[in-house]
Amino acid sequence: MAAGDLDEMATLLGDPEVMAYYDHPKSRDQALGWIEWNQGLYRDCGFGLWLIELRGSAEFVGDCGLTPQEVDGLVEIEVGYHVRRTLQRRGYATEAAAACRDHARDALGLRRLIALIDPANRASQRVAEKIGLTFERETVRASGKTLRVYAVSL
Ligand SMILES: CC(C)(COP(=O)(O)OP(=O)(O)OC[C@H]1O[C@@H](n2cnc3c(N)ncnc32)[C@H](O)[C@@H]1OP(=O)(O)O)[C@@H](O)C(=O)NCCC(=O)NCCS
Repeated sequence: MAAGDLDEMATLLGDPEVMAYYDHPKSRDQALGWIEWNQGLYRDCGFGLWLIELRGSAEFVGDCGLTPQEVDGLVEIEVGYHVRRTLQRRGYATEAAAACRDHARDALGLRRLIALIDPANRASQRVAEKIGLTFERETVRASGKTLRVYAVSL
């Protein structure tokens, strides 16, 4: 993810449907902040959310990757994903998330991977389940919102 991806990332993160389980869709400035956050993660952690593109055409699909998240006082590594509305339900999130799980295990040597998911977000829960994560518990975020913790041992 780089500054040159701002148009596509702003469209993705500005889509109210894609962001239905967030507080609000992101503005263009916030999308730039998202890119900069991930560039900081690449530098500091060696991973972050990456772009998903179609092989061949390089058409923009969305983002997927690994980010540190504090959960109940412990920093865990989460797999996350967002797919453009018009390209959803074609298996892209599952393919990308499975690759990130394998990278977490094989290249980074991580022993555990989680996903924090809104209880109503069935699509995201299915992606997590399809790459081997299972429901572990619920957690209450600082905002007061309850999320489901999905997890797998790698
Ligand atoms: C979650 C998301 C990334 C899934 O992307 P996708 O590329 O459509 O996912 P896939 O095509 O790999 O589908 C994976 C599974 O989810 C199911 N699924 C996809 N969209 C669904 C929906 N809206 N409702 C119910 N199930 C859904 C698919 O049917 C498939 O399960 P199956 O094989 O049992 O049929 C996409 O819906 C999205 O971007 N949502 C908004 C952002 C978001 O919520 N991200 C996660 C934050 S925790």
